[in-house]
Amino acid sequence: MSETWVNVSEPGTAGAEPGQAAGTDLHLELSGEGSLRGQLMHALRDAIRSGRLTPGTRLPPYRSLAHDLGIARNTVADAYAELVEEGWLFARQGSGTQVAQRATPFHPHQARRPQRPTRRRVLHDLMPSSPDAAAFPRAAWLTSARRAVAAAPNDAFGVGDPRGREELRETLAEYLARARGVRTDPGRIVLCSGFAHALRLLGGLLKGPVAVESYGLDFHRSLLESEGMPTVPLTVDALGARIDELPGTGAGAVLLTPAHQFPTGGPLHPERRTAVIDWARSSGGLLVEDDYDGEFRYDRQPVGAVQGLDPDRVVYIGSISKSLSPALRLGWMVLPGWLVDDVLAAKGPREMWSGVVDQLTLADFIACGAYDRHLRRMRQHYRRRRDLLASTLAERAPHIRVSGVAAGLHAVLELPENTEEAALRAARRQGLALDGLRPYRHPDSTMPPRDGLVIGYGTPPDHAFAAALDALCLALPDAPQGNR
Ligand SMILES: Cc1ncc(COP(=O)(O)O)c(C=O)c1O
Repeated sequence: MSETWVNVSEPGTAGAEPGQAAGTDLHLELSGEGSLRGQLMHALRDAIRSGRLTPGTRLPPYRSLAHDLGIARNTVADAYAELVEEGWLFARQGSGTQVAQRATPFHPHQARRPQRPTRRRVLHDLMPSSPDAAAFPRAAWLTSARRAVAAAPNDAFGVGDPRGREELRETLAEYLARARGVRTDPGRIVLCSGFAHALRLLGGLLKGPVAVESYGLDFHRSLLESEGMPTVPLTVDALGARIDELPGTGAGAVLLTPAHQFPTGGPLHPERRTAVIDWARSSGGLLVEDDYDGEFRYDRQPVGAVQGLDPDRVVYIGSISKSLSPALRLGWMVLPGWLVDDVLAAKGPREMWSGVVDQLTLADFIACGAYDRHLRRMRQHYRRRRDLLASTLAERAPHIRVSGVAAGLHAVLELPENTEEAALRAARRQGLALDGLRPYRHPDSTMPPRDGLVIGYGTPPDHAFAAALDALCLALPDAPQGNR
């Protein structure tokens, strides 16, 4: 029996010479029976079945594997060719041999586990959570990363300060003042991994209960509740959250999405913006301002942050989850001065969440103007999508009202009463992933439940957007009788 650790190249490192450091080690056992070709095929099938070689993994070139195993190059070539025939491997001219996508690893315990009901395949993702991932500005981001890493002082690569890198806090203070009307200085900015992280840090510091909009992200409500902070709902009407209800709730803090109410759309009315500050000043309360997509306003200038009205009574939170990518996990809190030390204490003595390279890259990306250029480009991109959504529905489903489209990356399709469940089932049959309005409703809300679909129009790649809209139209309920 021959046992060998061979060097398996990661995708993108095809052609690594034997003995080179690139790639990952794979323990291959050639059993002593049968031809060498048969033994090699058996060992490779085993590695794929067990999940040690995952779909897409690039295999070493014949020459290097033959060298590592001490067998003839033709033997490896024949084994690869036969495994390609059998569907285990996939070969393409110029890019070598890879583990095939459908060569799904087999885990013995799966055979015994009761099968979950099969989930229908998602063909069109219209969930309101993600921007267009295909539009991530890779080249400009790489340019900033290269420049930022080259310029970084050595201490940047030591233990991170929980406030975050000064370079980014300085850039953000300037950017947020210019673009969002936020009043701050770098000393009152604490970086975090995004809104969810910020809410977790604040959860233990707020005076409860926390008032929230009757319609909002259930994930954020649960997060507050898991930090021991009960939530109470405020009615949401056409002017945003009903601030006049706040005194009656006993809340010590209120969480709002003033620039673009999530998910129903629409900004908080100017009178309510001042009313919430009046409430905070007179009661010692705090506004937690979620500015998740404030940069994307299509019909007029972006609505500025409420924080600018009173920086001592507002925690302003933003992130790059909508503007760049939710995968980078980078966000910021702009805090009243009196809250900074408590938030830092909650965060701990060292940075554990945001990587320094991303922080420095974002600082450069904003400072060199690439962020503004990206946002302006994306604003046009999403506006075109919004217009196409609205015109397609006006033509093919004129009985469905589309609301909340003046800003952001999602819209609400208002449905006739009691049709949301059926529309969601029809959507699943069309291979659509999307949300209804009901899960966003606070369980204690006294507002009558509304039927609707929340459509994220940012996510599909351009080439798939028209098909997603076609599928959506097929899932919508027909016009009520007499309305046709
Ligand atoms: C209402 C709302 N707030 C905040 C965020 C951002 O969350 P995070 O920064 O944790 O990704 C999102 C999603 O992008 C959101 O939908």
